[in-house]
Parts: sequence; structure tokens; C-alpha cells
Amino acid sequence: MRVLFVIALAAMIGAASGAQRVVQVIAHRGASWDAPEHTFASWDLALDQGADWIEQDLQMTRDGALVVLHDDSLDRTARGPAADCRGLVRERTLAALRRCEVGSWFNAEFPQRAQARFVGAVIPTLDSVLVRYAGRARFYIETKSPEAAPGMEDSLLALLGRHGLAGAGAPTGRVIIQSFSRASLERLHALDSTLALVLLIEDPIAPDTLDAALSAIRRFAVGIGPKRSVLNARLVARAHAAGLVVHPYTVNDSAAMAFVLRLGVDGMFTDRPGLLRRVLAR
Ligand code: G3P
Ligand code: CA
Repeated sequence: MRVLFVIALAAMIGAASGAQRVVQVIAHRGASWDAPEHTFASWDLALDQGADWIEQDLQMTRDGALVVLHDDSLDRTARGPAADCRGLVRERTLAALRRCEVGSWFNAEFPQRAQARFVGAVIPTLDSVLVRYAGRARFYIETKSPEAAPGMEDSLLALLGRHGLAGAGAPTGRVIIQSFSRASLERLHALDSTLALVLLIEDPIAPDTLDAALSAIRRFAVGIGPKRSVLNARLVARAHAAGLVVHPYTVNDSAAMAFVLRLGVDGMFTDRPGLLRRVLAR
């Protein structure tokens, strides 16, 4: 039964097949080239640009709320009262984070792409993202630093369940959960073996252990997300042979997109989903 489920799921999330390869456009932190990462402006734009998936990096607050922010620390992207908007997310409450905004850093950093409307963007809760995009987006959610946030996986599954995106009767192919943490994904797999999980890979895997490593990953995951610099044709071929989809991160220029496509990947993370759509159309 699980084998049939995984075959169906792999087809929906872009596994290579003999017939036709459908490459998945995964908006990395939204269309984060053109709008501040992990804001509604960024995800709205990603969908306008034709993204198949919108990404969320998950952090947990001191009082257990799941919020979407890439860094463990607020310092790079949050602005507001220092007592609320500096330091580690996990040391702040959700009420404190509601006093922060995450748009003005982008305007200062990228004046050529700045827009006045970005100022005041809130730190989104995952709940608010699932509400806003219900029925019109697919969610590619990363558990960030889960070892520092015990219970993150359980909270995530409970939230997805409340939105009808996990558990009995949940549709297939609406959510992928990714992590650099194998332990986090194994925990999720133990909680619900039907979840689509992708293990992020930052370092090269030694050639003589590659097949064993990939088949071990296949026991709990449907795919791998290799860093662009560790991607090569052999990794793609061996991952496919093991039944894993391959979604490298993060590819932002058209030459690199074309190169990665020639390697046979099933999709990729990009800050520029509109550009990837144009490359795919060629
Ligand atoms: O999740 C793929 C990619 O986003 C991993 O890197 O640091 O951008 O979360 P990072
Ligand atoms: Ca990520």
C-alpha cells in the first residue's frame, strides 16, 4: 500500500519518469529576489510568477507558536523594539514578534528592488500562511534547527491536521516537509508514514557509500534536496535509481538553471520562480 502511495506521490511532486518530466518550480522563501523573504508579498508574487510550491522555513517561539523566518535570530531581517525584535526567535513570544516588521531591511539592502509597500510586513505564523493560501498553493515547509525546538514536528503535524493537510483523508501532493535534520524527518515519518519528506544535503556523499546512503534515506523520505554545489549527474542518477526525487537549492541564474535541468533534476529551489518558468518555456 505504501509503495503505491509513494509512486503516486512521486509522480505529483516531480519524479523523473520515462514519459515526461515535469520540473517543479519551488519558490525559495517566496519570490525572494523581488520581495522580502517569507512575507505575504513574496509568496503572492511567487504564485503570480508561476511557482508550483512556496517555501516556508519554520521557527518556534518561546511559547510554542510556529512562525516563518529563515534565521534562528531576528537580527538580520526584523526591525522594531530591540527587546522584541533582536536575538533568538525561540527566546521571544509570539506577542513580541507581532511588534516586529520584516520588510524594511530588504529596501535598505536592495534599493533597486525596494517598494514602499514592503515596509511593515509582519512575521507570519505558519497558520496564517496556510489560511491565506488554502486551496491555491502547495507548501514546502522546512523544520529549521529542530533540535533546539523540541516538539516542533508534533506541533507542525497537529497544525497541518487542523488544516486538513495531514492525517486521514488529507490530499496527496499539497505539502512537502524538508529538513537538514535526519532526526527531524525520522520523527515525522514515525508520526505519519504517508508524509512526503525531503532530506536536505549540504555536503558531498562519498561515492563508495552513495547507494547505501540513498537507500537509507529512501526508508523515510521521498526525495533529496542537495545544495547546488554538491549536485552532479551521478547523484541525480543514483537518487532516481533509489526512487528519490531530486530538488537542488538554490538556483538563481538562467545558465545555472539550464545546467541543473540537463542533469535531470525534478525541480529546484529558486528565489526567481518567474525566471525559472521562462527558462523552462524555452
Ligand atoms: O530548503 C532549501 C534551502 O532553502 C536550504 O537552505 O538556508 O535557504 O534554508 P536555506
Ligand atoms: Ca529553506
